[in-house]
Amino acid sequence: MIPINKPILGREEEENVLSVLRSGNLTGRVSESGMVMEFERLFSSFLGVKYAVAVSSGTAALHASLLAIDVRPGDEVIVPSFTFSATCNVVLHVGAKPVFVDIDLDTYTMNPDEVKKTLTPKTKAIIPVHLYGHPADMKPIMEVAEEEKIYVIEDAAQAHGAEYNGVKVGGIGHLGCFSFYPTKIITTGEGGMVATNDEELAEKIRMIRNQGERGDYVTTLLGHNWRLPEMNAAIGVAQMRRINEFLAKRRRNANRLTELLREVKELVLPFEKGKARHAWNIYTVRLRDERVRRDDVVSFLRKRGVGATVYYPVPVHRTKLYIERGYSNVFLPGTELASKTVFSLPVHPSMTEEDVETVASAVKQSLGASALSP
Ligand SMILES: Cc1ncc(COP(=O)(O)O)c(C=O)c1O
Repeated sequence: MIPINKPILGREEEENVLSVLRSGNLTGRVSESGMVMEFERLFSSFLGVKYAVAVSSGTAALHASLLAIDVRPGDEVIVPSFTFSATCNVVLHVGAKPVFVDIDLDTYTMNPDEVKKTLTPKTKAIIPVHLYGHPADMKPIMEVAEEEKIYVIEDAAQAHGAEYNGVKVGGIGHLGCFSFYPTKIITTGEGGMVATNDEELAEKIRMIRNQGERGDYVTTLLGHNWRLPEMNAAIGVAQMRRINEFLAKRRRNANRLTELLREVKELVLPFEKGKARHAWNIYTVRLRDERVRRDDVVSFLRKRGVGATVYYPVPVHRTKLYIERGYSNVFLPGTELASKTVFSLPVHPSMTEEDVETVASAVKQSLGASALSP
């Protein structure tokens, strides 16, 4: 099986983890000078931001960001529904209300015109998601945020290294959140990062990840244990040394797949809109004809050894948790269409040219073999 994503882990990762084990300093609480700090330094310089604060997951990064800007019950936060549930769940966790907006079907990211229509005096923040690795349209989103004096938290969990108008995503909004889950551009096993250019917000995130302490045992605000262990950071340090190579290989594979699938009339292929630079975390196509049975296409591909996957078959506002919370009347046409017609293909950096060709020919065969829904 060519999996949808696969981390590349080598000698440097092994050596870094062993060096942490041998040092006995397994977490940043014991040693402030170890792998976590090095990982943060490498990540902030890669992104071109002043501060990067490592946390235990991408979800923790988003949750900590909402706490840092003091989002609380009564506040509203604008989110897409076509995303991984974590983007929206963190809003519920702080007691605020997620307000869903539709997507632009070219990029599957938040539609800025819809954001404007959704603003109310209660809106405290917007969370654009750079889905699949394609940047959201940040300029109009930042303009609205500035006018309305609200915060922008970028969910860049899938988009390390993606660029919008020449600037790396995650460094455009007030806060940018990354995940290092094994399906992401780089991994630490589990892990996350918050990026910001705001010194005060960076300091708050550092406190929130460590029980809200400013200095040892001086509890200053309500925090959590969201520290990233040293062994995970050690993997991250090694991964950062290869991130540009990983991104280049993803780009090469995505470009080749586009070349091979260009003539396939049944599919809408992904592309880089405007001055966007995709990180190609996954290569997501859409069936032009809604009646073609997408799930048949995906199972055909899986039988042929291609790990095609649907992200996301159910929009967040259509899941049980959100229906129970009163979202059953929300209708987002672009989101609904995408959730019925998209499927994703692998372009990860360990794929060979032959693997990419295997994916393309399996896709062509799957469309020939698939039936229309009755
Ligand atoms: C868009 C998006 N947001 C948030 C997350 C949460 O990250 P994590 O799984 O590291 O908590 C993920 C990753 O799974 C994601 O894809």
